[in-house]
Amino acid sequence: MRFGENFLEEVKARVRVSDVVGKHVKLKRQGREFAGLSPFTNEKTPSFFVNDAKGFYHCFSSGKHGDAISFLMEVEGLSFPEAVEAMAGMAGMEMPKADPDAERRAARNKATISWMERAQEFFEKSLYRSTGQAARDYLKGRGLSKTAAQNFGMGFAPESFSALKDELIAQGAQDKQLIEAGLLIEPDDASRGSWDRFRNRIMFPIHDSRGRLVAFGGRAMEKDAKAKYLNSPETPIFSKGRLLYNYHRARKALSDPKNNARGMIVAEGYMDVIALSRAGFAHTVAPMGTALTEEQLDLLWRAGPEPILCFDGDSAGLRAAYRSIERALPMLRPGQSLRFAMLPKGQDPDDLIRAKGAPAMQAVLDGAIPLVDMLWQREVGAERLDTPEAKAGLKSRLYQALDEIQHADVKALYKTELLARFDAVYGWQAQRRGPGRGGYENKSRKADKITAKAASQGLAQNQRRETVLIGAILEYPELLSLVDERLFELEFTDPACQSLQRAILSYARVTKAVEKESLNAHMVSEGLEEDVKAYSRRRAKVRAAMGGPDAELSDRAAIWNTEADAQAGHAQPDHIQTDTRSRMAETIRNDNADALKRLMRASKKSS
Ligand code: UTP
Ligand code: MN
Repeated sequence: MRFGENFLEEVKARVRVSDVVGKHVKLKRQGREFAGLSPFTNEKTPSFFVNDAKGFYHCFSSGKHGDAISFLMEVEGLSFPEAVEAMAGMAGMEMPKADPDAERRAARNKATISWMERAQEFFEKSLYRSTGQAARDYLKGRGLSKTAAQNFGMGFAPESFSALKDELIAQGAQDKQLIEAGLLIEPDDASRGSWDRFRNRIMFPIHDSRGRLVAFGGRAMEKDAKAKYLNSPETPIFSKGRLLYNYHRARKALSDPKNNARGMIVAEGYMDVIALSRAGFAHTVAPMGTALTEEQLDLLWRAGPEPILCFDGDSAGLRAAYRSIERALPMLRPGQSLRFAMLPKGQDPDDLIRAKGAPAMQAVLDGAIPLVDMLWQREVGAERLDTPEAKAGLKSRLYQALDEIQHADVKALYKTELLARFDAVYGWQAQRRGPGRGGYENKSRKADKITAKAASQGLAQNQRRETVLIGAILEYPELLSLVDERLFELEFTDPACQSLQRAILSYARVTKAVEKESLNAHMVSEGLEEDVKAYSRRRAKVRAAMGGPDAELSDRAAIWNTEADAQAGHAQPDHIQTDTRSRMAETIRNDNADALKRLMRASKKSS
């Protein structure tokens, strides 16, 4: 099968190489690329790199190099068309089918679009005819010049059930084509004829991301109209959750080298987009009366790494902003985030710009806060935090939010940030330690001595450490509130430890006061009874390792932290290798093939 160049480009643009490779290789971010163990050789240290910006992977140990499609062909043994099909599936794209059905559909959509364009001509003409007088006055009243109206293709649908229909039928359209386009409403009762959907409304043409006219929005002019805005229904060419109003123009504006915004501006309404564009913010889009969908977020991130969402500063606006957080968390990636600009209460960008001008809008945009701040604000604002239970509730909500973040690195950074804030404001450290970070070092030195003794016991070093780390929590659950942050971060090698770690954390997330009996009951309910029993057999060793029966909670925490440091250190590659790898990555970035080969040879020799 042959694919059009556009289709292949589109597929490759939509699917990250790291997503394709990530299904087979565990990748870790390293600067602008990802590193992992080669899927082609049996290496122990990662020399396999993926660069999403450049769209390729490079394997130093095998010398293999290619894009996502060739990776699938290599690793999954797919043929070229199969690999393309797999990628299209990941991108949620329809395969271009050579079958007659698809061709017929494509031809039909093309015809539908051309009727939309004829309708557009009609609406525009109507605005400037005598029937459009009231509409022109309305636009003028809202401060829109003729040029602005023309730039956005604004039009007018006359107050008639058949003005558009008559016009397009006269031009050769068939009734059912216009119904399919959403321009006419089909009667339930077949004996009646179809009629114009848009009547006595100001019309806004809506384009898809390629700039094809696929829908209309119509604004009623009278104040008490049933629907202030009426949009085209879902049609074969229009799905409102999949596109953003003004995207095709905004993308062009954003890619202008003179525009140094880090992403699109997202407003709530058509009029806001137009007002913002006129005020110098041409990189503005809007969804069509709904909360942002995943597809829309994807569109935004394709245009720029940090779009700014604008919301009314009232409580409804805040709720809408919080809903966007929900949507965005699972989709966060390195260099792919959001900011929130909150407008003065009761104002949208159109109102603000009309009242105070572009500088006031600029100030609002400059004050846009990062997603992490908005998330913190949401969780802190959810209830009063004047009791220990409420503070614990805040912590568990933070963990729940963190759980939504899919990308490991982003999750880890959010976790560090949010827990640091929690500890600074409400946490035990804020109360115990006061300002600064005193005390910890002495405790861990003391802990070193104790654990050194414990290390002489029979189990293999790392296995022993993991047993102590998990066993200590089972034995002294009160430790959890002091070390949960570290426990969350640790990567255990022993599968039993991994399951217990997960179960302990999930327990901690939903339980405010951690307590031994209920922790044990939770473990049993998670099907981990046998693992817990295995630990209780080693109870004496765990107790000894944790400083014996007389140790204080703070000592145990210090010991636990030292063990955790050692365990984490055990899993880390050594510095020389890290250095070689980062130099390799550097040479890929610079496309320096010779330097790359030298480094590869050197690294092979040393391993
Ligand atoms: P708003 O009610 O905030 O209106 O709807 P607005 O954009 O400020 O419009 P003006 O300034 O009163 O003219 C925001 C967006 O929600 C959708 C439209 O896309 C609108 O631009 N909407 C609103 C509808 O689809 N239907 C409605 O009845 C209302
Ligand atoms: Mn408005």
